[in-house]
Amino acid sequence: MFVCVCNAVTESQIRRAIDEGALTLADLRTRLAVASECGYCTVQVDEVLSKRLLEIATTRASGQSAGSLPTAR
Ligand code: FES
Repeated sequence: MFVCVCNAVTESQIRRAIDEGALTLADLRTRLAVASECGYCTVQVDEVLSKRLLEIATTRASGQSAGSLPTAR
């Protein structure tokens, strides 16, 4: 599904860019040109960004806490 119609950018492309290191709307604008024309997609792009960053943080946090737990003897 297209998130940014002006630049034909899909949600999958945005999620992939985040997985590859984009951390801000400005990063996504630079990489994919989202929100660089009419701007109607800005809120939706920001929602995809926030949701994906939260997913990444949650995954990392659960992995880190599990890895940092002391082992039973
Ligand atoms: S829909 Fe993204 S800039 Fe127009």
